[in-house]
Amino acid sequence: MICAGNWKMFKGPQETRSYFEEFLGLISPEQSSNFVFFVPAINLLVAKEFLSTGKVKIGWGAQNCYFTSEGAFTGENSPQVLAQVGATHCLVGHSERRQIFGETDSWCAQKVAVIQEAGMIPVLCLGETAQERERHQTESVIVRQLKQGLAEVKDKNKHKPLWIAYEPVWAIGTGKVATPEQAGEAHSILRHTLEDLWGKNRASEIPLLYGGSVKPENSRSLALQKNVDGFLVGGASLQPQTFCQIYENALS
Ligand code: PGA
Repeated sequence: MICAGNWKMFKGPQETRSYFEEFLGLISPEQSSNFVFFVPAINLLVAKEFLSTGKVKIGWGAQNCYFTSEGAFTGENSPQVLAQVGATHCLVGHSERRQIFGETDSWCAQKVAVIQEAGMIPVLCLGETAQERERHQTESVIVRQLKQGLAEVKDKNKHKPLWIAYEPVWAIGTGKVATPEQAGEAHSILRHTLEDLWGKNRASEIPLLYGGSVKPENSRSLALQKNVDGFLVGGASLQPQTFCQIYENALS
């Protein structure tokens, strides 16, 4: 059961230090490989100091990157540089990036491809808005986002690690979690779409995370859904105890 924390624009280096000091006391080395942290870029080297020690195997990475290795792109982070410093994962197409910063499916596709090329694991985020759900467009929206988001994956990279995070926009940061049935239904659509694209075996290797108001109180019922392989957690990942509790409860 994967538990990925998306800190968004919260915490500075000092708070990151205190967080990981506490967090590492809460989990065993065996459990560590189930966790990944997407910290603000300014904290990535602090994350590395705590998480890439050899004693634990915790993933960490950025919440976004650009799709070329260098250039005149003020404010962006290079995927190659992220990989050079040791980042293992990178988020792509989080709904806040899509909605606030205007990221398109075609940008996401390029980012997925360069993150793989750089040797990291892309976590492609997708999900429908409330309005799209009301209009019964959930399936068409998430299938489009998935297919277009994977459109630039090169044949030689089709077997490289890749994760998908289904995050209904109406459930992010709202306290309105998808019901286990809604999450299960969306995940099964995504799994079938991956099977159509790349075959059953390959599709079964790709972890499908659920995100949107995941908390210790709902992680168990969501985790019971067949195609839910883990979580992408925003607000509830900001406290080490709460984040660990989500993981513990999911397994209980
Ligand atoms: P939330 O955010 O858990 O605070 O709803 C999830 C996310 O944005 O990844």
